[in-house]
Amino acid sequence: MTKLSQVAFFASVIAFACAQCPHMDAMKRRDTIRLENSAFESLESPRTYKGMEIFSEVKEDIRKALKTPREEWPADYGHYGGLMIRGAWHCAGTYRKSDGRGGCDGARPRFAPELEWEDNGNLDNSRIILEPIKEKYGDDLSWADLLVLTGNVAIEDMGGPVLGFCGGRMDDADGTNSLPLGPSTIQEAIKPCPVNGKCETPLGQTKIGLIYVNPEGVMDEPDPEKSVHAIRDSFGRMGMNDSETVVLIGGGHTYGKAHGACEDPPCGEGEMKGKGNNTVTSGLEGPWTTTPTQWDQEYFTNLLKYDWVKFKGPGGRYQFKPSDDSVHIQMFTTDVALLHDESYLALVRKYATDKEALDNDFKYAWYKLVTRDMGPRERCHGEDIPPAQPFQNPLPEPSSATVDVPAIKGRIAKLLRAETEILEGDKDTEGKPYYGALLVHLAYQCASTFRITDYKGGCNGAAIRFVPQKDWPENVGMDKVLEFLGSVHADYPDMSWADLIVLAGEVALVEAGGEPMDFNAVRSDAVSGEHYESVELRDYYVNATVAVRDSMDVMGLTPDQFVALMGRPRSNSQMKRIGLLGSYDTDPSHFTNEYYQLLLNSTWVQSEQNEHVYIAEDSEGVKIEGTHMTDWDMVLINVPELKEIVSEFAADEKWFKEVFAEAWVALMRADLF
Ligand code: HEM
Repeated sequence: MTKLSQVAFFASVIAFACAQCPHMDAMKRRDTIRLENSAFESLESPRTYKGMEIFSEVKEDIRKALKTPREEWPADYGHYGGLMIRGAWHCAGTYRKSDGRGGCDGARPRFAPELEWEDNGNLDNSRIILEPIKEKYGDDLSWADLLVLTGNVAIEDMGGPVLGFCGGRMDDADGTNSLPLGPSTIQEAIKPCPVNGKCETPLGQTKIGLIYVNPEGVMDEPDPEKSVHAIRDSFGRMGMNDSETVVLIGGGHTYGKAHGACEDPPCGEGEMKGKGNNTVTSGLEGPWTTTPTQWDQEYFTNLLKYDWVKFKGPGGRYQFKPSDDSVHIQMFTTDVALLHDESYLALVRKYATDKEALDNDFKYAWYKLVTRDMGPRERCHGEDIPPAQPFQNPLPEPSSATVDVPAIKGRIAKLLRAETEILEGDKDTEGKPYYGALLVHLAYQCASTFRITDYKGGCNGAAIRFVPQKDWPENVGMDKVLEFLGSVHADYPDMSWADLIVLAGEVALVEAGGEPMDFNAVRSDAVSGEHYESVELRDYYVNATVAVRDSMDVMGLTPDQFVALMGRPRSNSQMKRIGLLGSYDTDPSHFTNEYYQLLLNSTWVQSEQNEHVYIAEDSEGVKIEGTHMTDWDMVLINVPELKEIVSEFAADEKWFKEVFAEAWVALMRADLF
């Protein structure tokens, strides 16, 4: 996550705090909100980051530093490459596809909590070695780019393959954005891990404090077979398939060594205390190959060639060594695990015999590992950027630029009240059909998948047409809404579905009484769901309050933006299709601030039929027909900071509609880079 999300985060903290300041008048708060919005919208502005002009020079400096001995931290085998590759991998390896958090953008291993993770031992030394380079380039080069680029240069310098470099990472100011990764109260609230060692998604790792899995085995038990599942599970949570997993583990462990030496001279003695040959990092000891500064197939051939037996290394941890003691190499439980699964074993054999496949698969997997938190390729800077990869969700060139937007708006406006057999819509006060709220729902569902954590999701690409999004519970019936919009698309085939969905939502809002909104026909459609890696449904929250707070953070919305968007017109028919009892409002064709007034002025009672539904009661305790809210709506009045915003919107409809229009446009445009 970048500075931008931090700005949004701290701005929201300020806004939360200030919402409770007794002396702050509404106008001052409103100025703060404008500032927050501009932070969100500046996602669209071109970056001022200058790193792209200097990367080749930086690479030269890194190449020299890798082989320049430093007394305070001597290199193994005269080359800092192993340490640096591990540094880049640990920086990037926190990425998890559940919510897009983690990854090297932000360079947060510099700060607690990641700095203190057991797995990140001695990586501060890798940064000490790089510090002169960081100082030389100052703000022109982020730590995050430097760490990843150093990993690349180290791989290359020892003969390995590299696909290219996507620069443009920005440094976080502290470790706040890592708090959800654990251990922290924020992580505990989102997803506790009752047995540390068996943590589940959305956490990326099986044990908090490790990057993925325990090298010694699940719960320290040196059973390679048991590690198979843990490896597949945790690498899967990062979006890596079997071949990416095997080639990354084996490719990584082709280089360098593990550190758990305590024998000669005994640990804690002499000038080399805790460093050089006396380094203790993981407590595991030894290299995986006889050529640890050279890219080759030895990791894979070694795995196959020897009979691996369990032993306790000098650091007191279980490892594996060849039964005949002929060479001084070792493997972890997790390395030997690659021999205990049919699919993994086939891949080990492939990489042991096919150098070309090894080179090819490793360079693509490494690029994905270190780049996937950066979003689409358009966000990359530098002169060595590879073509867009599948994980970057490449889209065709937009085709809508020349379409007649006013004419299409007219067609959509007519559609709002058209008769159709395709789907059941809503009724206005006169009992006439009304489809506007369904179009708003479609646009919101399409765009609200956006995650500022990894710049994925959003309506560009119109992934809502494909599995899995089309099957998400809240999207039931959206295929029919798309079919309904199909008549417009048939007449204007040059307009992308993504643009049409966004425009239809906007027309519906404006026709219902919303503020005018800017629209640019710039989106394009993914060709198929197959090559479009969809974001995941976040359905793991323990309660609605956690879900609201976390979703706001993941989407990059400020509290004001979020509360405003919650007041969007809601389709009665859609709420029923979703399995709820209906909308808060019997007439979604009029867009007002009624939602906030109802929230504040009614008594809300949980439905006996559905725990997620709340029904309004009047002062006599009589249920008000047709007035339903969800547990998410209740959060807005149960959390004081949000309730303050609800009160403002309830009191001032014009203000609400202004904030709404800004928030809506910001969300619809969040994925345009
Ligand atoms: C070293 C665990 C995957 C690259 C190590 C060490 C451990 C470890 C415990 C020793 C640290 C020390 O004592 O210095 C694991 C586990 C993995 C995994 C459990 C997954 C199952 C990877 C991947 C890469 C990688 C995917 C990179 C693509 C390295 C490198 C070193 C290393 C280069 C050597 C560091 C040095 O020479 O100082 N790993 N690792 N590892 N790992 Fe991994």
